[in-house]
Amino acid sequence: MRTADTPEKLRLQVADLPRPLILVPTMGALHQGHLALIRKAREIAGSTGSVAVSIFVNPIQFDRPADLAAYPRPLADDLAQCQAAGVDLAFVPASGSMYYPDRSVTVTETLLSKHLCGATRPGHFDGVCTVVLKLFNLFQPEAAVFGEKDFQQLAILRRMTRDLDVPVEVVGLPTVREPDGLAMSSRNVRLTAEHRADAPRIQRALQGVLSLLRCGERSGDLFLARARKHLEESPFLRIDYLELVDAETLQPVGRIQRPAVLATAVFYGDVRLIDHVTLCP
Ligand code: PAF
Repeated sequence: MRTADTPEKLRLQVADLPRPLILVPTMGALHQGHLALIRKAREIAGSTGSVAVSIFVNPIQFDRPADLAAYPRPLADDLAQCQAAGVDLAFVPASGSMYYPDRSVTVTETLLSKHLCGATRPGHFDGVCTVVLKLFNLFQPEAAVFGEKDFQQLAILRRMTRDLDVPVEVVGLPTVREPDGLAMSSRNVRLTAEHRADAPRIQRALQGVLSLLRCGERSGDLFLARARKHLEESPFLRIDYLELVDAETLQPVGRIQRPAVLATAVFYGDVRLIDHVTLCP
């Protein structure tokens, strides 16, 4: 496996790689969810194409300095996992090599980022879009694979490539879960044992509303109340947001008449976890 730690070295490596080149952008602390993305990338690249992974804890997408500082960075283990998974090129930019100190241009999304994580994490999606566009420019991949767990991120990145004519196909892959239903996340390792044991309630609270849907219920308030009650039964978590939005526009909906997404972010201590369920009428 080749590696590069600066954009300049990366460009030289990329020029040499057989096409198609499929990129998996990550912030490291790789888990089974990331390995599923890498497998998908290999499936698209085929045995003669190339798979690249970027590992970069992108400072400009963090709204809380403490979250950035605490983000796990097991780099040696990440690289070993990439190697074992058959990755051809790993890009691990050294801190400071991705952004000019006097940078003044940022990508801003102005609609899909207004609710959900965008509302409670100011600047987050500008940071995500900016780094992903930079990665797309550096790698010039044919496609890039992202997890559907971050469904708002996926929708915004699809919108970015559409609106800015970026010639990269954005591929989404369903959320990978622990056996007890907790969505896999690099943040899970920071949960205390008590919080980890409680956390599967997030998915149960969201899935719990499906019975209402099956019974013909369409009122958004009822779905939100049912899920909120289940979440609030936890003595540990604090709800950051719980919202029902249209699956395409990501704007709040009062009744479920088209596919909608019930999404939440919760805090266990200072660990923030997200999850969602899609509701089809
Ligand atoms: O989903 C992530 O891990 C990050 O937001 C991404 C897409 C790698 C950008 O930093």
